[in-house]
Amino acid sequence: MDGRVESLPESKLGTKEHWDQVYEFGEDSVERMIRYLVDMLQEKSDEEAKYILDVGTGNGHLLFALMDAQLDEAENMTPDIIFPARLCGIDYSAASIELSKAIGSKRGHGCEQILFLECDLRNMPEMDELAARPSHGKGWDIVCDKGTIALSSQLVHGKLPVDLYVEAVHRLTRKDGGIFFITSCNFTQEELATKFQPAGFLIEHVVPTPSFTFVCLCLFHTHTQTFPLIHEQGGQQGSTVTTVAFRRG
Ligand SMILES: C[S@@+](CC[C@H](N)C(=O)[O-])C[C@H]1O[C@@H](n2cnc3c(N)ncnc32)[C@H](O)[C@@H]1O
Repeated sequence: MDGRVESLPESKLGTKEHWDQVYEFGEDSVERMIRYLVDMLQEKSDEEAKYILDVGTGNGHLLFALMDAQLDEAENMTPDIIFPARLCGIDYSAASIELSKAIGSKRGHGCEQILFLECDLRNMPEMDELAARPSHGKGWDIVCDKGTIALSSQLVHGKLPVDLYVEAVHRLTRKDGGIFFITSCNFTQEELATKFQPAGFLIEHVVPTPSFTFVCLCLFHTHTQTFPLIHEQGGQQGSTVTTVAFRRG
C-alpha cells in the first residue's frame, strides 16, 4: 500500500437513474400484488375473512400495504374483508421479525394485531405447526411471497432449497382451493409451473408484468437496507418479473 487511492470500476450502483428504477420496480410489484389480492378478497367478501401468510416477510411491507389498501379504499371496499389478526408474516431473521413488530406497533390502526413469527421455511416440523394456526385447522387460505423463493444451489439435507421451499408451501397452503401467490424475478412462469404443478398447484392467474430488455432489477431487502440484485439478461428480451397465483387442488 503506497497511500494512493486506486480508482474503482464504474458501477450502476452509483447512478440515481439506477436507484429510481430499483424503487419503482419494488413498489410496482407490491401494487400489482395488492390489486390482485384486494380484487380476489372483494369477490369472496360473502365468505369468512381469509387467513393470509407472507413468507420471507422482510419488514412486513406487503402485509402493511394490504392494510393500507383496506383503509384507503374503505369507501369502495366491503368493510372488513381483511382481518389483521388473520394476517401473519414469517421470516428466519429474528431482526426482520422484531422490525416488523415495531413497525406494526408504530403504525397502529390494526397493524399491531398482525402476527410476525420467526420461522425457517426449510424446517418442516415448524411448517406443520404454522399450517395448523388458522382456526379452521386446514392451512392458510392465501400464501404470498415477494422475492423469497430460494436462489441457492447448496443442498440442505440432500435437497435443493427450492425443492424444500415447494414442500413448505405445499404444507402451508390450504388444500382444495388455497392460493399461493408469488412474485419472483429469478424464476419464469414456466419454471415456477414446472416446480409447483407436480405438487398439486394449478395456475389460477398470471398478473401481467412489464417487459425489460437487458437488465432485471430485483429488490433485495434486509431489515435495515434495500439493495438490488442485478440480473443481466444477455440481450434477451422478455418479462423478467413473474407474478403468478396458483390454486392448490
Ligand atoms: C428478498 S427478501 C424479500 C422481503 C419481502 N418479501 C419484500 O419483498 O420486501 C427475502 C426475505 O426472505 C427471508 N428468508 C430467506 N430464506 C428464508 C427461509 N429459509 N425461511 C424464512 N425466511 C427466509 C430473508 O430473511 C428476507 O427477509
